[in-house]
Amino acid sequence: MNATINLEKHFPVLLNELVSIISPLYGGTFIDCTFGAGGYSEKILEEISNNVIALDRDNSVKRFSTKLQTKYKKRFKFYNLKFSNIDQIKDENIKAIIFDLGYSSNQISDLNRGLSFKSKGKLDMRMGLNDFSCDEVVSKMSQQSLYKIFKFFGDEKYAKPISKKIVKYRESKKINTQSLVEIIESIKKNKGGKNKSTKIFQALRIFVNREISQLINGLINAYTILPIGGVIAVVTFHSLEDKIVKFFFKEYSEIKNSSRYLPKNASPKKYFNTTKKKPIVPTSSEIKINPSSRSAKLRFAYKLENGCDFENFISNFNYLINIENLRFDV
Ligand SMILES: C[S@@+](CC[C@H](N)C(=O)[O-])C[C@H]1O[C@@H](n2cnc3c(N)ncnc32)[C@H](O)[C@@H]1O
Repeated sequence: MNATINLEKHFPVLLNELVSIISPLYGGTFIDCTFGAGGYSEKILEEISNNVIALDRDNSVKRFSTKLQTKYKKRFKFYNLKFSNIDQIKDENIKAIIFDLGYSSNQISDLNRGLSFKSKGKLDMRMGLNDFSCDEVVSKMSQQSLYKIFKFFGDEKYAKPISKKIVKYRESKKINTQSLVEIIESIKKNKGGKNKSTKIFQALRIFVNREISQLINGLINAYTILPIGGVIAVVTFHSLEDKIVKFFFKEYSEIKNSSRYLPKNASPKKYFNTTKKKPIVPTSSEIKINPSSRSAKLRFAYKLENGCDFENFISNFNYLINIENLRFDV
């Protein structure tokens, strides 16, 4: 018997591990910043008696929220909101804030959204509440900007020749998903390994959805609205996301106050308590059932103090934010 699941509906990753972290914090509100198909929210509502506020920038997932809304009338609310704006949520008793980053399998498998290199049509890639689509990025950005996006968000070794070929190609024809795949494959002709388009598509998705700025602002604003004692838990799916989350928790869970804004004689503070240095990863049996969980990493930390300025965090990743702030040149 084949134990691999059918991924028509998104299969929640590291669900039991996540629930075991947040369940001791019963009573109050949990915020599920990435509702998706509602796997986390549903499990929390079933197993813990807390209220759940769920957010998602993709309004199409609202269809998954109606069932929970009917079943758990007073305990559940859904908002179509980007998690960078989590500070718009007014609740005095937040106990946990959860992020399960990236895309749901429902979004990837919807070929009209152009998130996957298997899509046939227009390059779209918008998750929801976006300012522009991928179509505009490939047709309007300079070669230099495309190069930076591919290099820094995709770690693509062939960022330069691919960006050059895109700019040449679009002089005569419009680029769609299929032609982008052909351009990439023509440059990475004899290279083996995973799908040749994976890195470029990842880079474009990050840029179109401003995922780095979303994550950085989401984490900072989550800290701001979380009362002391609450937990922030984040599941990441690629090394760039994990690097940001790891830095955020590590930098502020150790005593080393280097902020120039700190008054003289102020005692150094730890703003988070991390009980685990290493991330939690899926078991081999979870990976067997759901192979796309293999790159997932779960990190979490408890808030210890108010007043963190996150100066080092922001300055450490400013080079990535600056790339996300690049705009069209053509
Ligand atoms: C991996 S899925 C979450 C799956 C969910 N945990 C479940 O069990 O069904 C990620 C979801 O987060 C949403 N998302 C990604 N970035 C977001 C952001 N900046 N703000 C709000 N939602 C976001 C996506 O639209 C997607 O639905």
